[in-house]
Amino acid sequence: MAAIINQKIDLAVELLQRGDLVAIPTETVYGLSGNGLATETIAQIFAVKARPTFDPLILHISDLQALDEYAQDVSPRLLALAEHFWPGPLTIVVTKRPIVPDIVTSGLDTVAIRVPAHPLTRELLGRLAFPLAAPSANPFGYVSPTTPQHVADQLGDQIPMILDGGPCTVGLESTIVTEREGNIIILRKGGLSVERIEAVVGTVLIADHSSSNPQAPGMLASHYATRTRIVLSEDVDISTMTNPTRVGRLSLTSLDDRLLAHNQAVLSPSGDLTEAAANLFASMRQLDALDLDLIVADLVPDHGLGRAINDKLRRASV
Ligand code: TXA
Ligand code: MG
Repeated sequence: MAAIINQKIDLAVELLQRGDLVAIPTETVYGLSGNGLATETIAQIFAVKARPTFDPLILHISDLQALDEYAQDVSPRLLALAEHFWPGPLTIVVTKRPIVPDIVTSGLDTVAIRVPAHPLTRELLGRLAFPLAAPSANPFGYVSPTTPQHVADQLGDQIPMILDGGPCTVGLESTIVTEREGNIIILRKGGLSVERIEAVVGTVLIADHSSSNPQAPGMLASHYATRTRIVLSEDVDISTMTNPTRVGRLSLTSLDDRLLAHNQAVLSPSGDLTEAAANLFASMRQLDALDLDLIVADLVPDHGLGRAINDKLRRASV
């Protein structure tokens, strides 16, 4: 059975109350959501994504007021960030209350929480008596979905409904932060820039993500991958490639005239990093669908959302 893609919040409420899964729009990426307090529903989320259960989920709540129901001892600086950026692309990792099932947090005593900014999903959350656990709605390890069609292409046969909220405006997953020993730590770079966070809480530390010691378990070195191999342009020489018609190109502002135009995606002709972020995952999927031998990707300027874009490109090229 293929998923129905529509805008009926009533149906989404009914399915979620019944314990079913619904793909939901957020400003960052589409999420695969279910009742965040129902262990069996959450087990289904892991199963549909083929996600290892050691990789915990984010709880989505309707507003800041609901934070206290699921979290305790939230530090003043994390609270300041939540007040400043919610609803929006920020996730905070805080001490969980016992009501949060262990399967959500993979047994950790902390839980990741955010208030998403998409109007449809905010309305949905407002009508539910529980938070929504939602990872990105893609098979584990693949690029996150930024349109309802992306979700339908990969998971459509496994879920009853995709709530259509149009293309995601931010296009990168939320930035994940926590506080440890007095330091604010960025666990995952995402749709809220490090600069904007530092403007509120001062200098932060950025977790060093290695595959052997992931701080956020989902931050494995190789992630956000396409099926087609991606290499960074700084690591290859296109002019020596033997079969250039089989090579794709992902660049920030302009086409590469050594390659076919239809094998290329430009993230933002004007070099705008916010626009580039919004187009990144759709462009990766578009090039992946061409079934080429290789995709050569340019890193972008390393500031603002560019740092998160580069992080994704590096991981995709591992
Ligand atoms: O923008 C987003 O965050 C999207 C939308 C749907 O909200 N969600 C998303 O979820 O990207 P997911 O499951 O693909 O990524 C969640 C990340 C994982 O890397 C996971 O390891 C980390 O959050 N995480 C969850 N709980 C954690 C915890 N208690 N401590 C550290 N990291 C945690
Ligand atoms: Mg994900």
